Amino acid sequence: MGSPSLRQPSSSSPDSASSSVSIKRSNSADEPPNPEKGEQEGRPVDFISKTTRFKERTREELIAKAREKEVDQQKAIKMASHVDDYEIKWEDVHIGERVGQGSFGRVYHADWQGSDVAVKVFLDQDIRSEALEEFKREVAMIRRLRHPNIVLFMGAVTQPPNLSLVTEFCPRGSLFRILQKTKLDERRRLRMALDVSKGMNYLHRCCPPIVHRDLKSPNLLVKENWTIKVCDFGLSRPKNNTFLTSKTGVGTPEWTAPEVLRNEPSDEKCDVYSFGVILWELATLQQPWAGMNSMQVIGAVGYLNQRLPIPDHIEPGIIALMQACWSSDPKARPSFGEIMHKLKTLPRYAFTKQS
Ligand SMILES: Nc1ncnc2c1ncn2[C@@H]1O[C@H](COP(=O)(O)OP(=O)(O)O)[C@@H](O)[C@H]1O
Ligand SMILES: [Mg+2]
Repeated sequence: MGSPSLRQPSSSSPDSASSSVSIKRSNSADEPPNPEKGEQEGRPVDFISKTTRFKERTREELIAKAREKEVDQQKAIKMASHVDDYEIKWEDVHIGERVGQGSFGRVYHADWQGSDVAVKVFLDQDIRSEALEEFKREVAMIRRLRHPNIVLFMGAVTQPPNLSLVTEFCPRGSLFRILQKTKLDERRRLRMALDVSKGMNYLHRCCPPIVHRDLKSPNLLVKENWTIKVCDFGLSRPKNNTFLTSKTGVGTPEWTAPEVLRNEPSDEKCDVYSFGVILWELATLQQPWAGMNSMQVIGAVGYLNQRLPIPDHIEPGIIALMQACWSSDPKARPSFGEIMHKLKTLPRYAFTKQS
């Protein structure tokens, strides 16, 4: 993915100018010596030829050095063209307490230039490994995203051994944890569902659409004012063709669409299935498929067409929306635009049915 601010080496760049000047200077200082000149000045010829040899050697050295410098500069420019618009210096990041641990990295609360940030430090810093590809992919994806319900990318440390991703800090942590420890009222929970659908609608309406592929409550962050921000783009992919066929990097089974669990081709509608599970978590305040292991969930959802049980006290409009999100046929699932509309126009803005 190319950087929009790709910087080409230009003659106006102070660095490239200095290298050409140094070659020129060495040329002009080392014009072929004129023995006559020496004689005229009364110096012996021997001295002049020694000086000439010295000057020639110096000139060659200078040219070689300038060339070396030029190559170094070109390398630096090449690297800078990809990273200089978001590079963060590791020395400027002051790491605080650990706030999360995922499959690819540890997340810390940190201070960067006086701002509260979250720093995801990648566990595997081996520059030849797949983890580096994962890091590059996540940076390439997240740096283009601009939406109030998508976590704000602030920059990255791109030099091993400190490869890390810096984002805005969300002090209330993940929605998954919030739902476990805090009793949120229904209106707040419905607003959260609407926030998620807005962020996801933005991703799916990017050109090409971005499929998150790991949408789940641990990847939804909560701000001070309870706004939700979608995070963790490690498995996200732009959808250039009709289907995504990658079999690697499937998310967590509890939130994963049946076609993905079966390793079948999938499209952006796999995120809609995951949203249905999040809606169920917000409505029931329970953990999905609690007490079942991953293989049991894969079997139940992927192969036996089972879905999460919906308690009777849930509002019928919400039940209908969840069931639509969980359709076995991805095409029958609503788009996030439709989900937003449904949530905004619910007859009662509540999860619980009126008795
Ligand atoms: N910006 C943030 N602010 C607060 N907590 C965060 C932030 N980013 C991540 N976390 C915490 O760290 C956890 C893991 O982060 P995530 O980006 O999902 O990494 P992984 O790819 O390892 O799953 C999240 O579930 C959340 O608890
Ligand atoms: Mg995660």
